[in-house]
Amino acid sequence: MSETTPTTAPAATLAPATATACANTAGTSPATSAQPPLLDADELVAGYLPGVNILNGASLTLGQGEIVGIIGPNGAGKSTLLKALFGLVHISGGSLKLKGENITNMRADKLVARGVGFVPQTENVFPTLTIRENMQMGAFQAPKLFAERFDYVTSIFPRLAQRSTQVAGSLSGGERQMVAMGRALMMQPAVLLLDEPSAGLSPMLQDETFIRVRQVNKAGVSVVIVEQNARRCLQICDRGYVLDQGRNAYSGAGRELLNDPKVISLYLGNLEEAVEEAGQ
Ligand SMILES: Nc1ncnc2c1ncn2[C@@H]1O[C@H](COP(=O)(O)OP(=O)(O)OP(=O)(O)O)[C@@H](O)[C@H]1O
Ligand SMILES: [Mg+2]
Repeated sequence: MSETTPTTAPAATLAPATATACANTAGTSPATSAQPPLLDADELVAGYLPGVNILNGASLTLGQGEIVGIIGPNGAGKSTLLKALFGLVHISGGSLKLKGENITNMRADKLVARGVGFVPQTENVFPTLTIRENMQMGAFQAPKLFAERFDYVTSIFPRLAQRSTQVAGSLSGGERQMVAMGRALMMQPAVLLLDEPSAGLSPMLQDETFIRVRQVNKAGVSVVIVEQNARRCLQICDRGYVLDQGRNAYSGAGRELLNDPKVISLYLGNLEEAVEEAGQ
């Protein structure tokens, strides 16, 4: 039997054979400990329009020091989940806690002050501002700490210091992603929410992005990352969740998901190819 946890039935159109997978949240939590998880989203229901739910009971936990990945088909609600975690989409059901404290529907600016950073999928830099000014925007809640935090961010992304006077709109895609991540890191968050940081980048730059995410994580930041590049993402994640139709379809350790035939056939593309890749 697979070690990953089917937490609910995937879309019937995608998975008639697994439509009976039972609801089970075991395995969705990091190692049990007395400490509450850093982030704990329980059965979130949320959407953009009244009566139209995009999240239908999505759950996620993030432990201290972890990288947790969210993968799933287009339109599954991955970006909506991140936005709900960051107070940008109204949560109408379930609960959200940060270090055990209820933060359900807390405003984004308050979440930033409490140590949550967010890098959206699109429009994540101020294109007419320089790199340095983008970083200033990131630290607008703590302007006196700008120099110290700029040093911190440029120790992770040295190129941002070298190019600090360049306008963000004229940067390459990879550089722009660095600015977006750097801006979110200016407040030295405990939790960083990343929405598709490798999107639109060449395979080499995608690899660089994943290496940077690991670096950021090693510097003490716990990370929730949404990715289209599911295999690469699961390779760097401690744990992963497959989101489908606004709810958890599978969850487990990144490597376990990568090797789970059901997850491979439903969400990771061609089975044979994927088995070959996962088995190398
Ligand atoms: N601002 C919005 N207003 C209304 N509906 C929205 C809005 N943003 C997203 N949606 C809808 O919510 C659903 C989930 O979208 P979401 O962007 O969360 O998916 P996703 O899993 O991130 O997809 P992708 O992989 O394409 O980025 C989609 O049906 C989308 O049309
Ligand atoms: Mg998205």
